Amino acid sequence: MYKSPRGTSDILPKEQAYWRYVEEKAAAICQLFGYQRIDTPAFEETSVFARSIGQGTDVVDKEMYTFNDHSGTSMTLLPEGTAPVCRAYIEHGMYNQQQPVRLFYFASIFRYEKPQSGRYRQHRQFGFEAMGDADPALDAEVIGMSWQFYSSIGLRDLHLQLNSIGCRLCRPSYVESLKQYYSEYRDDLCTDCKTRLKRNPLRLLDCKKPSCLEIARSAPRSTDHLCASCSEHFNLLQKYLDILEIPFELNHCLVRGLDYYTRTVFEIQPEEEGMQSALGGGGRYDNLIEELGGKPAPAVGFAAGMERIIMNMKRQSIAVPPLPEPKVYVAYTGEQARAEAVRLATLLRGFGISATTAMGHRSLKAQMKQANTSHVSYTLIVGEDELRKSTVVLRDMVRGEQLEISLGEVATHLQRLTWEEP
Ligand code: HAM
Repeated sequence: MYKSPRGTSDILPKEQAYWRYVEEKAAAICQLFGYQRIDTPAFEETSVFARSIGQGTDVVDKEMYTFNDHSGTSMTLLPEGTAPVCRAYIEHGMYNQQQPVRLFYFASIFRYEKPQSGRYRQHRQFGFEAMGDADPALDAEVIGMSWQFYSSIGLRDLHLQLNSIGCRLCRPSYVESLKQYYSEYRDDLCTDCKTRLKRNPLRLLDCKKPSCLEIARSAPRSTDHLCASCSEHFNLLQKYLDILEIPFELNHCLVRGLDYYTRTVFEIQPEEEGMQSALGGGGRYDNLIEELGGKPAPAVGFAAGMERIIMNMKRQSIAVPPLPEPKVYVAYTGEQARAEAVRLATLLRGFGISATTAMGHRSLKAQMKQANTSHVSYTLIVGEDELRKSTVVLRDMVRGEQLEISLGEVATHLQRLTWEEP
């Protein structure tokens, strides 16, 4: 028997109410903050990601779904959503529009990871990007927007972690001091961290192995090495967050897994034990648009993992409104009535009343059982006798009452009844 590929899953109808709820809340927040939707393709030229996410990151080195298309061009399924939005910003000359350009997206993201709870090979992200402005108030807007998004869903006990990792000017000296510090612990580092020390020292702070975590605890802090302008930017951001009454924790080990970040980085974590997986994260990426070939344009953004959000909603017993189900089930007895049932269901849909019809040759009892499990409000029973009289039986499934009405009045009668429903 075939199964969905490892690390992927089907989102079955019973799960869809959560997805629709979260997507609607996300779109509502974006509208509230003036962000417009963008959809980019599911794959890009590989270099869009290799140049932006960075060699030496797990994503580029081990996790991308890369293939050569029939022309021999190397393509990659989206391993994240920011670089494609930057590519679109450049390609469509958005730097000529009023800045910052504020965009949001929903995208399927593909990473060849070791599947486990909350970590999949395909997941869905809701993200937003504000491009073309370096103001720390924009960082605060993006962080505030993500905070408001989670609270609009009803998620509680979240922690916002914040750090600044500096810019092109101040980062090199910080990285140098990190290298010096870690060189003394070289023998105690895990195999991956030994490579990180050579290729990408900032990533050392990201290692989750207990022995490496211990070493990271006393490592030099990026915030002690910021240049004057990064320092002012970070101070102002914290001031704005205070004004917005958004609580945050400074975490000097927070560097994020993608290389394009400058200055602000942040993550939102759930509180529960064993739930170390971030619900979302983001930061500033002031050089990325330039690195992808555009005019320099500072930017900041955020993305949240939808599966993790829904997982945490279930943990916190957050209920969502059910999806609407068909209002009317049309049952019938006999061949002639069957044709009339099909005509009636079509007529009702024309009036905007959702309707399903029985199929095949089931007994009326079996059809009524189906109607019950479909949770419809009304069942129409088209029988041979009623047909001769040009009538139909309308059964109110909640009250258990039924009445006979003329065929000509069915649609308007049901329309009135369904309007009256709460
Ligand atoms: P990211 O932290 O790699 O950032 O991913 C964002 C969120 O996607 C994570 O916080 C997590 O909730 C979810 N996520 C990531 N990987 C997986 C996975 N394998 N399975 C399930 N969920 C996952 C970015 O991708 C950046 N593009 C965010 C950003 C936007 N930075 C600036 N603008």
